[in-house]
Amino acid sequence: MTDTVAKPDSSGNTAPPSAFPWHRSRASKARNIANLREAARKRLPRGIFDFIDGGAEDEVTLQANSAAFGRHRLMPRVLVDVSKPDLRSTILGSGRGLPFAIGPTGGMGFVWPRGDLALARAAADADIPFALSTTSSVSIEDLRERIDGPLWFQSYIFRQCDFTEKLIRRADAADYEALIITVDLPVGGNRERDYRNDFAVPFRLTGRNVLDFALHPEWVYTTLRRGYPRFGNMEDFVPSHDSSTVASTVGRNYDPSFSWDGLKRIRDLWPRKLVVKGVVHPGDAAALADLGADAIVVSNHGGRQLDGAPATLDALAAVKAAVSGRADVLLDGGVRRGSDVFKALALGADAVMIGRATLYGLAAAGQFGAERAVSILRQELTRTMQLCGATSIDSIDAQYLMP
Ligand SMILES: Cc1cc2nc3c(=O)[nH]c(=O)nc-3n(C[C@H](O)[C@H](O)[C@H](O)COP(=O)(O)O)c2cc1C
Repeated sequence: MTDTVAKPDSSGNTAPPSAFPWHRSRASKARNIANLREAARKRLPRGIFDFIDGGAEDEVTLQANSAAFGRHRLMPRVLVDVSKPDLRSTILGSGRGLPFAIGPTGGMGFVWPRGDLALARAAADADIPFALSTTSSVSIEDLRERIDGPLWFQSYIFRQCDFTEKLIRRADAADYEALIITVDLPVGGNRERDYRNDFAVPFRLTGRNVLDFALHPEWVYTTLRRGYPRFGNMEDFVPSHDSSTVASTVGRNYDPSFSWDGLKRIRDLWPRKLVVKGVVHPGDAAALADLGADAIVVSNHGGRQLDGAPATLDALAAVKAAVSGRADVLLDGGVRRGSDVFKALALGADAVMIGRATLYGLAAAGQFGAERAVSILRQELTRTMQLCGATSIDSIDAQYLMP
């Protein structure tokens, strides 16, 4: 049976739990995303924190994503009336409150019960899109029922083509406005922190992770009070409701042979906006625009897949040139400040996707923390625009960067 209806916890509750007052207080005091990351680190068991924070192998690409933002200097223009900066933006052809979306991240049930719903509420509140991962804690239909805001669905590609197709048809039936196909995960990245922490699928209790959980009783209580985290979209993939079995089966069934013909079939199947995520090569970007993709996300999966891949900000200009206006170009990876959003837009991105920044907020204090992350990014972007003399999102361009 597809999980089209939310599974309540033992108290009959289907909403994400509220944060305890001390979580809220810590998130309220956070001045920036780094403070939220610290609060997340304190609340989560080490294995879970490293699962969201870590990258592949030596984490060279993970570091490079952030470092690339640090290399660009802003060039302010002065004597501009910046009393009312306008942050309204167009993303995939629709007017939105801010120039960013919350990107797809799987496994959120381990971070906060029904974490995807908490993130989606934070996004809807800010009038920005939320992208639901294939491996989300809530199902496509469950989320649609509860969220009025713009939703996108991200699909991985399974060896079982009919299952992938079924997911895509479900997203269409539930009125998701865009489909994201993630193409940088033909096989899983080599995430060594997960091995070190015994955070693996199928999940096994070991001395190390039992001790880790024992040192974080609030997380254990908050997480397990709602039952073991589930994978809302996958419950008819294998005849098992044990999410650890589901997760390991899912991971083993991604299709490494997926290529251009498969993507063409998906383009024909999906009638709305098609977004392809995980591209850094300009040749691929040009071919995707030819194929009819509506948007391309310059992304290296937040440094979690191919270690040694270029920083996304460094790859952006060439992708933008190759696409030459035929598709929108979005960027993710390493965005931790409003000024990072500004720099990406100045270098040609049409919009940005947020990954870990909102996850740190979610991990620190559920929906409250995710909203705090969005609000920090909004405030920082507003101030950066004012200090740079930019009055609207559309007006942000290369003049604001040191050549
Ligand atoms: C914990 C975690 C889970 C993720 N799961 C997915 C996923 O299910 N699908 C996907 O396309 N990308 C996934 N990503 C990648 C993000 O969508 C995004 O590309 C990346 O986080 C951007 O980098 P940033 O976190 O530095 O902003 C995941 C990232 C993280 C941190």
